[in-house]
Amino acid sequence: MDPFLHTYARYPIELVRGEGLRVQDSEGRWYLDGIGGIAVMALGHGHPRVKAAVHAQVDELMHTSNLYRVPVQTALAQALVDLYQARGVFLCNSGTEANEGAIKLIRKHHWRLAGSPESGVTPRTEVLVLPSAFHGRTLMSLAMTPKPAYQQGYLPLPGPVRAVPADELPAAVSEQTAAVFVEPVQGEGGCRALTDAQLRAIRAACDRTGALLVYDEIQCGLGRTGEIVHHPRPDLITLAKAVGGGLPLGAILVVNPALEGAFAPGDHGTTFGGNPVACAAGLATIQTIDDEDLPARCAALGERLTAQLEAAGFTVRGRGLIRAAVPQGPSPGEVVARMRGRGVLVCPAGVDSVRFLPPFTSTEAEIDELARAFVESAR
Ligand SMILES: Cc1ncc(COP(=O)(O)O)c(C=O)c1O
Repeated sequence: MDPFLHTYARYPIELVRGEGLRVQDSEGRWYLDGIGGIAVMALGHGHPRVKAAVHAQVDELMHTSNLYRVPVQTALAQALVDLYQARGVFLCNSGTEANEGAIKLIRKHHWRLAGSPESGVTPRTEVLVLPSAFHGRTLMSLAMTPKPAYQQGYLPLPGPVRAVPADELPAAVSEQTAAVFVEPVQGEGGCRALTDAQLRAIRAACDRTGALLVYDEIQCGLGRTGEIVHHPRPDLITLAKAVGGGLPLGAILVVNPALEGAFAPGDHGTTFGGNPVACAAGLATIQTIDDEDLPARCAALGERLTAQLEAAGFTVRGRGLIRAAVPQGPSPGEVVARMRGRGVLVCPAGVDSVRFLPPFTSTEAEIDELARAFVESAR
């Protein structure tokens, strides 16, 4: 009897152990993990610094709620604020929770700007997203993920949300728009990167109209694209996945000083957000990324992977170590199965491609192995 509700169509292997880029299944077979828990394991499996930090925190204090400060939580918050040159952070548990919280912050901001109900001004609520966006599975995040297969059966969803292609977005931003959400490099949508010109045009439209710009960096953040700080600067950034170093952690970063006071005490909260053990893992991860200049490594390894795939005639999208390649003939699902048969784990992205999200700490040889497995499986 399967004890689970049937939300996941899982692959037919059970994983029991991980070391670096390798994971082992319950039958003893080792695989090269080219997807790293879907962009979570930035330092690979079982990184010694992360393990030591988690063990030490478990011995010290596992949970207190957010009624009290805990040193490791404050240290992680400060590290994130410093790294992103931000004004403040709210810690939560997941990507979708970060986006929901960002929406609440945006609503509060526009509600305050509108003044009292007697002012007659209606606070802005409209959110614009890209057609192949993925922002999560809770109700508002799902409304912002305009994929019929995901939304079917859940209507009506909160809103208003409009999906607009990148080149039409600047003209669509209006005085009714509360915020524009974009992934600088889309993950689920097929590793499509917005160009600098597109981001600048969206930023300018937001500045012109007073709409807020949010970068959802849940999948592409922490340096995976080759850089931590993306330009032009947004007003808010949402993070999750890699930020917890393998444990559940999400973050809303306020970049625009005008938003610092949007949340007042009592306006938002979460029991587990910023759990000390998750913060210990996250802090060790962030410090390692910074100490070892891993964003530069992501950029170099991403170029290496792309060069090999392109030399073999494949179309490749993305930046740094968030990449997708388009197979020639077999479906992405078929390529994923063939690669798994060769001992390499990846997953599909968008409708037409196979995704690579290897750890920032991958070796050149591991990247070459990943490229070779795709090339030999994708025709
Ligand atoms: C860009 C982006 N936003 C949001 C999410 C949702 O994150 P979570 O699954 O942690 O809720 C994801 C998850 O894949 C994502 O890739």
